[in-house]
Amino acid sequence: MVKTVRVAEGFPMSEPKSLPQRMIVGLSGASGVIYGMRALEALRDLGVESHVVASKAAEMTLGYEMGLKAADIKARADHTYAFPDIGAPIASGSFQTLGMLIAPCSVRTMSEIATGVTSSLLTRAADVVLKERRRLVLMVRETPFHLGHLRTMTQLTEMGAIIMPPLPAFYAKPETLDDMVDQSVGRALDLFGLDWTPTRRWGEDLKEGKRPGAARKGKN
Ligand SMILES: Cc1cc2nc3c(=O)[nH]c(=O)nc-3n(C[C@H](O)[C@H](O)[C@H](O)COP(=O)(O)O)c2cc1C
Repeated sequence: MVKTVRVAEGFPMSEPKSLPQRMIVGLSGASGVIYGMRALEALRDLGVESHVVASKAAEMTLGYEMGLKAADIKARADHTYAFPDIGAPIASGSFQTLGMLIAPCSVRTMSEIATGVTSSLLTRAADVVLKERRRLVLMVRETPFHLGHLRTMTQLTEMGAIIMPPLPAFYAKPETLDDMVDQSVGRALDLFGLDWTPTRRWGEDLKEGKRPGAARKGKN
C-alpha cells in the first residue's frame, strides 16, 4: 500500500490576511542567535507585532556570540514571555498569529516539537501553531546531522513545519556577515508572506539574474 503523507507544500494554512499582524519568534540555544535578533528588527521594520520567547540556552549564546543580555531581546520585541510561562497568550490557539519562526532552532527544541512533549513555552507555542495549521518555520542549526536528526526533520515536515537551515545564498553576493544573515532572515520571512527590503532577489535586485522591467516596488 502506498503511504501518503501531508507535507508543507499545499498545507492548508489559515488565510494570512484575515489574521492579526502578529508573529511569534522563538530563540533557542543553537549557534546563530543573531538570526533571531535580526528577525525581531525586521518585524519592527515591517510593522508586525512580535511575541518572543527565548530559552535559557539562547540567553547563554546571546551573551557568548553577541555580548548581549535578555534585556536586549526585550528592547527589540513588542512582547516577551518567560521560558516556563505556559500560561502566556501564545500558549493558546485562540490567540491568533501569522505563525512562528524559531531562529535559531536547536536540535533539542526541534526534537521536543516533533514528539509533542512540550516542556516549555517555546515548544508549547510551536505545538499550538502546528495544531492550528499555522506557519511554523524552524531555522535548524547543527552540523553534521545524524540519521535521527534527519528523521526528526522529515517527521516535522510531515506535520506541516518548514525546516529552513540558515544556509548562505552566495548568488546574493554577500559582502558582510550582516548581508548573509539578512538574506536568510528575509527568506524565512518570505515564508510568512512578508517582503523585507534587505532581501536580495534573483531577477529583481541582482544584476546577473535581472530581467528587463523587473524593478522592485514597495520598499519598507
Ligand atoms: C556556544 C554554543 C553553541 C551551540 N550550538 C548549537 C547548535 O548549533 N545546534 C544545537 O542544536 N545545539 C547547540 N548548542 C547546544 C544547545 O544550546 C543545547 O543543546 C541546549 O540544551 C538547547 O536548549 P534549548 O533547545 O532549550 O535552547 C550550543 C551550545 C552553546 C553553548
